[in-house]
Amino acid sequence: MDIRDQDDPNRFAQKLFTPLPDRYDRLAQILSLGQDGRWRRTMVDHIVPDHPDLVLDVATGPAGVALQLADRTGGQVVGIDLTLEMLRQGQANVARRAMADRVRLVAGRGEQLPFPDASFDALTFTYLLRYVDDPQATLVELARVVKPGGAVASLEFLLPQSRFWRFWWWLYTRLVLPAGGYLTGGRAWFEVGRFLGPNISDHYRRYPLAWTVEAWRKAGFVDVGVRRMSLGGGLVMWGRRTGG
Ligand SMILES: C[S@@+](CC[C@H](N)C(=O)[O-])C[C@H]1O[C@@H](n2cnc3c(N)ncnc32)[C@H](O)[C@@H]1O
Repeated sequence: MDIRDQDDPNRFAQKLFTPLPDRYDRLAQILSLGQDGRWRRTMVDHIVPDHPDLVLDVATGPAGVALQLADRTGGQVVGIDLTLEMLRQGQANVARRAMADRVRLVAGRGEQLPFPDASFDALTFTYLLRYVDDPQATLVELARVVKPGGAVASLEFLLPQSRFWRFWWWLYTRLVLPAGGYLTGGRAWFEVGRFLGPNISDHYRRYPLAWTVEAWRKAGFVDVGVRRMSLGGGLVMWGRRTGG
């Protein structure tokens, strides 16, 4: 698979994620050197104090974030994702946790959410903006469905700032990730491992962090904050829908 296949980013994402769901959560943990769980938790920390009744989790995948939101907020959660296989795994995870009355999963695109304006008290999105054609327009669409004053938080990969750590990050993403992916998950995870590093570098060349912060503001979020995590390999962002 080639990152130039991204002419149709939705189809590309479906192709990339369809073979991954059964071992997604465990391998995501291993390939992020155990950091993904900590990043998720930090993101959800920005939603919990609001005690939202209804939260939307976009790019929910196998519903790990959606389940944590339901556990920690006590509210209802809707998870939305483009890839049916991911949602199927999500459904199984929700059923295993006996949370079907609290977590509902639906198929759809972050770029065009099938919900009315201001229908959610809070929103999260994880690893989404690298898979959309127009991150600014997607942020506007995410903001549309959040009530004024509602909390929003996101999680993404990032590149370390220091040259020293960026060098090790480069080696890790270009060599260890593809090899580790292959050894732990076979061909499909080798493809993901090979794709991720260049995709992250390319994304931040086009949309640097300062651009992203400004894009959140333009989309209608205030009090926008960022936290670089794990030497800069992870990024948690948060903010609030204007008004309220
Ligand atoms: C890396 S996974 C993250 C899954 C989950 N959020 C987690 O952290 O465990 C990225 C997810 O984004 C979904 N995705 C990619 N593009 C999307 C889009 N435009 N709209 C909705 N979901 C999308 C993929 O199907 C995939 O399940």
